[in-house]
Formats: sequence, C-alpha cells, structure tokens
Amino acid sequence: MMETQILSGKELAEEVLNRVKAKIDEMISEGYRQPGLAVLLVGEDPASKIYVSKKQDACDRVGIRSVSCRFPEDTDFETLKDAIEELNQREDVDGILVQLPLPEHLRDRTNELLYAIDPSKDVDGFHPYNVGLLSIGDERGISPCTPKGVMYMLDHYGIEVEGRNVVMVGASNIVGKPMALMLVNRMATVSICHIKTRCVRDFTKEADIVITATGVPHLVKREMVREGAVVIDVGISRVNGKVVGDVDFDGMMGHAAAVTPVPGGVGPMTVAMLMENTLECYVRRVLHG
Ligand code: GUN
Repeated sequence: MMETQILSGKELAEEVLNRVKAKIDEMISEGYRQPGLAVLLVGEDPASKIYVSKKQDACDRVGIRSVSCRFPEDTDFETLKDAIEELNQREDVDGILVQLPLPEHLRDRTNELLYAIDPSKDVDGFHPYNVGLLSIGDERGISPCTPKGVMYMLDHYGIEVEGRNVVMVGASNIVGKPMALMLVNRMATVSICHIKTRCVRDFTKEADIVITATGVPHLVKREMVREGAVVIDVGISRVNGKVVGDVDFDGMMGHAAAVTPVPGGVGPMTVAMLMENTLECYVRRVLHG
C-alpha cells in the first residue's frame, strides 16, 4: 500500500513568519519605520472575523502594525471607497486588504472596490494591475496569498510541477484562477474545473496533482483521484461544528502520494504569504520610494 505523506503547512508557515520577523527587525534596527497593514472588515460574518483576527495576530507576531478598519454591515459603497482612498495616501500604511466576501448589498461591487486600492499596496494581489502582471508571468506583481502559499508548499516538499498534469477544482478570482496562472507560468498542464463542469472525475482521475478550492465538504473522494497523485485541499467548511476541507482526507490515506490536512495545511500558509506580501510592499516603499 502507498505511504501517504501529510503535507503540513503549520511548521512551514512558522518558518516564513520567523524570516519575515527577522527582516522587519533588521529594517527597524537600521532606522526604518515599522510596516503597516490595513485590514478592512465589513459586517459580522463569523468566518471573516476569525480570518481577520488570524491576520492581525500574525501582524503582531512579526512586527507589522495592523490598522483595524471595521465597518457596520449596512455601510455604503462610497464610505468604503473613501476609506480606501484615504489609506492609499497614508505614509504609514504599506498594505491594504478588504476581507471578502462583502455583505450582500455590496457583493456585486466587490471588484469596483478592489480597483480603488493602490496596486502598490494591494497585498492580496486582487487588483487588475497585479492580476495582469501575473497573467503575463511578470514577477514584479503581487501574487494572491493562497495560491502563493500552495506553490510554496509544493516547492518546499519537492513536488515538481513542470510538465505535470494539474487539475484545479474551483475557478474563483481568489484561488482557482490565479492558481492556474501560477502553474501555467511554471509550465504545468492545467485544467480548471468549476460548477458547470460535467464530469469533474474525468479530469481529476488523470491528474498528477489535484488542487481543490470549492468549500464543498468531501467533494474529492478516493475514487476520483489516481493512485499516487498529490492532493492539495484549499477548501474550508464546517460540518457539525467541525472544520473540514473539500477532500475526504481519510479516503486518501494509502492511496494518494501526499495530501494536505484541513486545518493545518494551506490555511496557515495563506496568512504567512500575506505577511510576506506586506513586507515586500513595505521594502519597495521605504527603499525605492
Ligand atoms: N476571503 C477568502 N480568502 C480571502 C483572501 O485571501 N483575502 C481576502 N481579502 N479575503 C478572502
């Protein structure tokens, strides 16, 4: 039976955070100011509140000043846009992120709001300028944190992507699409499956690497994956109060070559990459204007 490797993101994220902290400490000891990250949270979505608090804890941990911008559920679009424009001008703010999803009444203006963020402070990499740089393979852009974290894990664990067949299940702007672009930039052969894909299994069965980001619990089962494939679970949902991913984790044991757990897999890497992106924006700002 195949020995299945569990790809933890926890220790790896710790390593990244330690490195980010060391760099910030060094900058500060050289007389530079502290980096700053503004996190906008609109409304009371419980999952979003947890993500935001994890991001703020990571900021504390590495020495980034987190500027918390909380808005009530019924905040209007203009108020948020004004807040972003003010943050764009602030010298002490290097990164700006809007926690998604926005409340229902703002949902269809999400992109419009993201466009208001100064691309040089766009630590989530969601602005079309950064998306454009990613799509042409220009590494000067800022890459979205979750796909960047997945790539970091694949590299760390020595999983080759060049020339491999990778199936991305989920086509969101936050994960699926940027993930596919990063993989193509690294010369993987990529298929993107989504909610209208007729038979996801026909694709996943052929994949060397399956990456899933749908939020559908246990969508990816043992029989959908080739023996010896690598399975990366970006999904997160709650079933009977328990946090679970998109992958039937137990079903992968003895079948997949490697699988990421939920929690403790990709999640911590996302936050670590956000700290890295914030550091990157800060360094560019203080050293290169
Ligand atoms: N919601 C789910 N993932 C993300 C993310 O990476 N960034 C932001 N801003 N919101 C999210």
